[in-house]
Amino acid sequence: MNKKYLTEIFTGIRPTGGLTVANYLGAVRPIVELQKKFTPLVFVADIHGLTDKEPKEVGQYVEGVVADYLALGLNPSKTNIYLQSAVAGEVSFLTLILSRLTTVSELLRVPTLKDKLKNKDNPEVANALLFFYPVLMAADILLNKAERVPVGEDQLAHLEITRRLAEKFNKKYGDIFPLPQTQEMKALRVLSLKGEGKMSKSIPAGAIFLTDDLKTIEKKIKSAETAFEGEMTPKLKSHILITKELATEKEDLKKVDDLIKEHEAGKAVLGEFKKVMSKVVIEFIDNFQKKRLEIVKDKDYVRSILEKGNKIAKENATKTINDVLKTMDFYR
Ligand code: TRP
Repeated sequence: MNKKYLTEIFTGIRPTGGLTVANYLGAVRPIVELQKKFTPLVFVADIHGLTDKEPKEVGQYVEGVVADYLALGLNPSKTNIYLQSAVAGEVSFLTLILSRLTTVSELLRVPTLKDKLKNKDNPEVANALLFFYPVLMAADILLNKAERVPVGEDQLAHLEITRRLAEKFNKKYGDIFPLPQTQEMKALRVLSLKGEGKMSKSIPAGAIFLTDDLKTIEKKIKSAETAFEGEMTPKLKSHILITKELATEKEDLKKVDDLIKEHEAGKAVLGEFKKVMSKVVIEFIDNFQKKRLEIVKDKDYVRSILEKGNKIAKENATKTINDVLKTMDFYR
């Protein structure tokens, strides 16, 4: 039985629409960066998507989200992408096997579940797939014997659970799961253009969506909240961050630095700054939208990429499930 890693870098993406600039900077770009050095395996978590969506709706997002990631720089000759349900049998079975190694109370203590049960759902109405969410996630990771898992801060507890389940299995039945390491993706502080909090889908007027048309972006940036002359606010900092992170031309970076210096010296230049911000963001989104259009033009392209990834996932899953059955001495 071998405990070798099968996958260097592994992560899951949610099948949702409506990615924002903040999603790009926080979740997509880190993976694009990692593919310079590694061969990541990424999957669309369509079964996880069923916790709060109907299957039909989840299905409608799958190819779109892959097209988004490809247009944002995921390179299919570097990164393999598969669909979670392509290994539905294996991942479900491993979820059940791992479920035996935790308790109902332990799962009820998972912070993400506790939050959800407090804020949105309650135990009387929340479906039990929500309860199994972290175990299903552990099954994804362990099925692929992943070495490093880049995730946002909100997923750290799930990675802890994954390691705990792997250790339990190894101890109880035999040493087959190498422990996955967390690679935390530090979220950049991208704030809503308006109002409170982070940039998110839930406040559309304060969010720049990758699907926004260029006029809309210009309008949103024009009406973004900033700061008084000479003052530095978290909002303005966030606008500067977005602009600098998305800028591709040195000249624009220099303009931003110069304007912010003038602003800090008390001059009224934020109108000018917003023009640079608009130009940079619009260039980025225009480029994204053109690439995406090119990608979806070929009806079979995304599908063929998934098929390639699905084969790899199936191979990993078959190997791991064989290991699991043998190690547990499960009669078949
Ligand atoms: N739970 C992750 C999220 O909400 C998605 C996910 C599912 C995942 N399975 C995973 C991420 C396995 C990393 C590894 O973003």
